[in-house]
Amino acid sequence: MNDQSPRKPPHVTTRRLLEMKEQGEKIAMLTAYDYTTARILDRAGVDVVLVGDSASNVFSGHTTTLPITVDEMIYHTKAVVRGVQAETSRAMVVIDMPFMSYQLSGEEALRNAGKVMKDNECDAVKLEGGEVIVETVKRITDTGIPVMGHLGLIPQSIYKFGSYKVRAQEEKEAEELLRDAKLLEEAGAFAVVLEKIPAALAAEVTDSLSIPTIGIGAGPRCDGQVLVINDMLGLSTEFHPRFVRKYADLNGTVQDAVTRYVDDVRKGGFPSDEESY
Ligand code: KIV
Repeated sequence: MNDQSPRKPPHVTTRRLLEMKEQGEKIAMLTAYDYTTARILDRAGVDVVLVGDSASNVFSGHTTTLPITVDEMIYHTKAVVRGVQAETSRAMVVIDMPFMSYQLSGEEALRNAGKVMKDNECDAVKLEGGEVIVETVKRITDTGIPVMGHLGLIPQSIYKFGSYKVRAQEEKEAEELLRDAKLLEEAGAFAVVLEKIPAALAAEVTDSLSIPTIGIGAGPRCDGQVLVINDMLGLSTEFHPRFVRKYADLNGTVQDAVTRYVDDVRKGGFPSDEESY
């Protein structure tokens, strides 16, 4: 035994993320759902790869994150873990616990969290919600499974909210969110995602916690940032919230490549003699 990460160093661990917060180093997190993308992310130095239940939207085409199942999340996570392991194996891989896999009871939550950890060799699970899941978070972390929290606009509760507008703009909800964040920290969560809340509130939460905050639409004062890979690469065409910065226009690039391919095939211009045996 030694005190290194169970993976090849310098694998990002929960302890490393805490150190990053203490030293003021920002944490870069992105989602991935497949092997090839995970390889690119790990090679590019992403600290945390989230196998988000946003796979339900951007991979499977559902309108919400609710339909995705534990088995589907495991399928994506296995591919992502293989991708990270094929590169430097540096990035931490976190899997989203899907809707209704942890809400029914602490026992069921622990069984499902255990299943996704055992089946995937991933590093941690992510759960949405505050006070209502605190006992569950404690139970899972007490068992040795690291938990990342998620507050603010929690997409699994979209039918309760009724819209994707900015959360916690009113004082009461802002106070609740701050309290929930502290409760998650006390329950043993190692980090918390803050989604679509005012930047000033995210800064206050960040200053009040010793664990890192990871923002998405929560301003620059979080300890790290996360985006959905399809959004930041410009693959999604219908989703343009102001918090998404498009680092590429892959939709246009891929569309152009496929159009040229179709054209070449139709005209008999592909394959050429050099591309044939
Ligand atoms: O599922 C997901 O992609 C997420 C991020 C938006 C944080 O939870």
